[in-house]
Amino acid sequence: MSGVRELPEDCTTVDLADPWFFQLHDQYELWRRLRAKNPVFWTEPGEGRPGFWSVTRFEDVQRVYRDNRRFTSERGNVLTTLLAGGDSAAGKMLAVSDGERHRELRNVMLKAFSPRFLRSVESRVREMADRLICEVVERGGDFAADVAERIPMGTICHLLGVPESDQAYLLTLTKSALSSEHEDATEEAAVRARNEILLYFLDLLDGIRKTPREGAIAALADGAVGGRPLTEEEIVFNCYSLVIGGDETSRLSMIGAVHALAEHPEQWKLLRAGEVGTDTAVDEVLRWTTPAMHFGRTTLEEVTIGSRTIGPDSVVVLWNTSANRDEEVFEEPDRFLLSRAANRHLTFGYGPHFCIGAHLGRAEVGAVLDALRTHASALELTGEPRRVHSNFLNGFSSLPVAFTPA
Ligand code: HEM
Repeated sequence: MSGVRELPEDCTTVDLADPWFFQLHDQYELWRRLRAKNPVFWTEPGEGRPGFWSVTRFEDVQRVYRDNRRFTSERGNVLTTLLAGGDSAAGKMLAVSDGERHRELRNVMLKAFSPRFLRSVESRVREMADRLICEVVERGGDFAADVAERIPMGTICHLLGVPESDQAYLLTLTKSALSSEHEDATEEAAVRARNEILLYFLDLLDGIRKTPREGAIAALADGAVGGRPLTEEEIVFNCYSLVIGGDETSRLSMIGAVHALAEHPEQWKLLRAGEVGTDTAVDEVLRWTTPAMHFGRTTLEEVTIGSRTIGPDSVVVLWNTSANRDEEVFEEPDRFLLSRAANRHLTFGYGPHFCIGAHLGRAEVGAVLDALRTHASALELTGEPRRVHSNFLNGFSSLPVAFTPA
């Protein structure tokens, strides 16, 4: 349960690298105070790890996302790898590549997101959401396990060309790879799971070379960067990045949608009555839930953010959860308002690394909202939701909920 402990007087002393912080405190209260008094602040080095800068205001976060000349992603883009001193996939995996290589690799991957192929993926998403939500409305259950767990993984598997029979196996692995489900998950188990995912994709690649078929893995296998075909390692790293990028984030946004609708019955009424368009509602769900709390960069030279001067080789963390509640940009930022107009949230990042799967993420949340308003007339929480244990992901891993059929 978040928000049970008081924040310290001096907010800059909190340990943002510790997942427990997010489990036990109200992060939004922290961001409010920091945006007002200390919008760019330094966290001192801790046990065996360097210090780092945090950026909390919307305009500053957006500016850093856009600036891939003075900030690099190649030394990692999430706190854990940035503090560990780098990412083993640097320069090979899209999210942790810079410059020309990043641009070329992104173009290769975009081939898997052609409008024609996306339409077929999207219609599968709608069909899946409709069926699963119809079932959970009839029977009740845990929205996280019975619906949200199945849709994103089903979608990415379809995008990649993974057979349906392997989906449950991949899902178990991705959960332990991000170690967000349980407090007692170990880093060794996470590393083992990551390696097993990579091995799985090597096998799949082998199969696709023998029997070609459509999908992202095929696009990668056919792609070239820097005038040469991608290596097997680069291919499997980038398959992995689609799973890691698209599974838990989408899952947490749809779980968060149901949680928010249960907590805000007047918004549920608006949605049900068709008084708010799906696309507008989806954007507010994405702003409100912000499943990826932060992304990060390393400075390549001295930079100034706000009133702070930051030296080269410094880790800079961009807090999306704070930017998305910035009162300078969003009116009444702490209200969940499905009809919110001009909602320019940073949930998918901004600039050159803007989420490549944003369209799919939106489609998944939209399919869930539409299926809910078709099949349910009311919804209520029937137990305590369980928060994910992470300094990166935001939301709930379990959400017991009961629906009244429409
Ligand atoms: C990049 C969030 C869905 C794949 C990003 C970034 C954010 C983000 C904030 C920028 C990272 C950075 O600047 O370092 C989300 C959220 C999602 C979502 C909140 C769902 C609600 C997806 C899906 C896929 C995906 C469905 C794949 C099918 C990726 C990849 C990148 C990325 C590969 C790296 C892009 C690049 O570096 O050029 N995502 N994402 N994401 N996302 Fe997503």
